[in-house]
Amino acid sequence: MSYRYLGNKTRLTEWIVGEISRVLPAGSSIADPMCGTASVSMALARAGYSVTAADALTFPVVHARTRLLAKQAPAFKALGGYGDALEWMSSAAPVKGYFFKEFGEAGQPANGRTPRLYFSADNAAHIDGIRKGILELAGAGQIDEVEHSVLLHHLILATNKVANISGTYGYFRRTLSGPALRPLTFDPLEFESTPGDHTVMHGPVEDLASTLKTDAVYLDPPYTKRQYAGNYHVLETLAREDEPVAAGDGGLRPWMEQASDFCYRRSAGQAFRETLKRLSAKHVFISYSEDGQVQEDELFSILSDFGTVTLHEQPHVRYRSNDRVKDGSVLERLYHVEAF
Ligand SMILES: C[S@@+](CC[C@H](N)C(=O)[O-])C[C@H]1O[C@@H](n2cnc3c(N)ncnc32)[C@H](O)[C@@H]1O
Repeated sequence: MSYRYLGNKTRLTEWIVGEISRVLPAGSSIADPMCGTASVSMALARAGYSVTAADALTFPVVHARTRLLAKQAPAFKALGGYGDALEWMSSAAPVKGYFFKEFGEAGQPANGRTPRLYFSADNAAHIDGIRKGILELAGAGQIDEVEHSVLLHHLILATNKVANISGTYGYFRRTLSGPALRPLTFDPLEFESTPGDHTVMHGPVEDLASTLKTDAVYLDPPYTKRQYAGNYHVLETLAREDEPVAAGDGGLRPWMEQASDFCYRRSAGQAFRETLKRLSAKHVFISYSEDGQVQEDELFSILSDFGTVTLHEQPHVRYRSNDRVKDGSVLERLYHVEAF
């Protein structure tokens, strides 16, 4: 599974896990508390580690639960099995609900703005129908927590494929075209029975850091000013299963309470410091780009207060988010801090 997500490390997992495995024996435990799509969590799980994944946002938690905890297709007894669950999603009856109104081409946003073209009318109503169905199943106790996550994970993947956006949900394209005109699709997942004992948590790393008792921690913070909570507001709403006020022309949910200190030049250094202060792991690995909010010498100086720092570098092709145009190569950096 992979989708366009700012800072997604899918293409770098071999290198990252390779460096980690030089110092951390398989069978050890490691946390990935800013897990995003859970691509690094999964690569670590495949390499034989027990993984604790977490994120400040809700939809990464849905991905991590699905990818790490569903080691085989869930039973989905209430729906007749996993294959039938996918069929149930495909054929869910449309509902002219919140998505139709706020994010569909034929909608009428509550704040009186013009219709937001994130989705075709059919897809928006289909998404509403599935949301309603999942809420009913969960409310009636007919799906367990992992099954619930698997359904939401499928809904997020299907939604991403038909979203009429240029990379993120910061805004929608002016006209509906291409994939946005296709229907939602639900492709079967390949569940992976990885050997470790995995855990998934939810919350800002600053809050969770002191509770993480793993042998190592991998941190992959945002390194630009682009806030994930605003840029992926539609996915957050799918995962939270709520109907927040959709503000302005773009229809963003209120996201300031989920704003990350790592995205601001003025607070990113302190966020690193606070997080490291609370971690107790012997090894901390940090992915950070050369063009991040915190300059290399400043980060090096912060990290050096907590242990011996080694820096690994790897050239990485960067894509502009709006149209996958190659935009030169950046040096991806992996810092290793071995605690004093
Ligand atoms: C660079 S992305 C991680 C990408 C991930 N490794 C992947 O491969 O998909 C950064 C992640 O950090 C999360 N995040 C930002 N600030 C956070 C914080 N203070 N605590 C926990 N997660 C945070 C974002 O929601 C986002 O998912």
